[in-house]
Amino acid sequence: MNNSQEIIALEKQYVLQTYKRPDLVWERGEGSWLYDKEGRQYLDAGAGIAVTALGHHHEAVIGAIRQGAEGLIHTSNLYHTAPQALLAHDLCESSFADRVFFCNSGTEANEGAIKFARKYARAKGHTDKTGIVAFTGSFHGRTMGALAVTATAKYRIPFEPLIGGVTFAEFNNLDSARAAITTQTCAVIIEPVQGEGGVTPAEPEFLAGLRARCDEVGALLIFDEVQCGLGRTGKLWAYENYGVTPDIMTLAKPLAGGLPMGAVLLTQAVADTLEVGDHGSTFAAGPLVCTVARAVFSQINQPAFLAEVKHKGDYLAQKLQTLTTESPLLAGLRGKGLMWGLLSEIPAAEIVAEARNHGLIILVAGEKVIRLLPPLTITQVELDLLAERLRETLAAVG
Ligand SMILES: Cc1ncc(COP(=O)(O)O)c(C=O)c1O
Repeated sequence: MNNSQEIIALEKQYVLQTYKRPDLVWERGEGSWLYDKEGRQYLDAGAGIAVTALGHHHEAVIGAIRQGAEGLIHTSNLYHTAPQALLAHDLCESSFADRVFFCNSGTEANEGAIKFARKYARAKGHTDKTGIVAFTGSFHGRTMGALAVTATAKYRIPFEPLIGGVTFAEFNNLDSARAAITTQTCAVIIEPVQGEGGVTPAEPEFLAGLRARCDEVGALLIFDEVQCGLGRTGKLWAYENYGVTPDIMTLAKPLAGGLPMGAVLLTQAVADTLEVGDHGSTFAAGPLVCTVARAVFSQINQPAFLAEVKHKGDYLAQKLQTLTTESPLLAGLRGKGLMWGLLSEIPAAEIVAEARNHGLIILVAGEKVIRLLPPLTITQVELDLLAERLRETLAAVG
């Protein structure tokens, strides 16, 4: 089937319509570039929502997929395989964590984190310590537990009742958080840099205050680094920007270069309260996906690579700051590393739609934030082009 319109019509007839997609059919990608079926070229500053961190068609990813496919693709978690053990080693030795539980997505990782926190409190003899504190602006996923700690009411309300015991405190407001976190709280879950909610970094004092309050009441601190982790902020882990360490950290999006994978990283103290049978997954961390994840990880976890991300992020921020001053459609800029949100005076979706006419793929984050998540491998020349195309877009909309 070669015709874009036919593909779109077929998709609209048979796929459940839970996504609003533009009339665009992707055919291939190369580095920071995507090509549609008509051969038009687009600069990809969305990276499949922070997933293709090494860009498209990266030789290390392709090589690892080939190598993995030549071996075993799947064995289930009833058996040992080397790639899983080696990946677990890589993740733990590069972070605060002592243990990892693998799964297949961000929402599943948060689901696991919530279960582990509940079990931890119970194992310590607190059967009524089941409360979870989450924050305004949060997004943690679409399954019943992760959804319960996601702030956006329109995602949650049609599916209630979700899991109970969740309280929302105000993001970056320590008084609000301190009041919400009590001795009945088993866990506090937070994105160190909020993604979907509008690209909002946590204040350092806020995260430090959460850590202190969690320690005071014996609650676990969960950092959701599904979007902001693995190099996105210019550090390997977003929490390293803050010097605040969680008890549990969740990962997904870029972990396996576009193949589905999630992970829950935890301390030994939490791991000690979990036993055989407490959690599981058929698909998680098969040998193929782990081989690919190790290849991605070894590219990103290099001081020079991370320093480049920081450098390119600062460079992009400067360009975006200039655009913010120039354009009456923009009201501000926030973010970290290669994760930026431009605050817009009009619905961000209008700007994102116009950007496609200028060969640029960008995202929204909430109603009035334009989100930029380019591949971490984007070049400086491509960043110049990104800013230029954004300038043209704003001029066209304005
Ligand atoms: C911070 C964060 N947590 C969790 C999720 C859910 O991940 P997934 O879509 O892989 O379930 C997302 C997805 O956007 C996210 O940004």
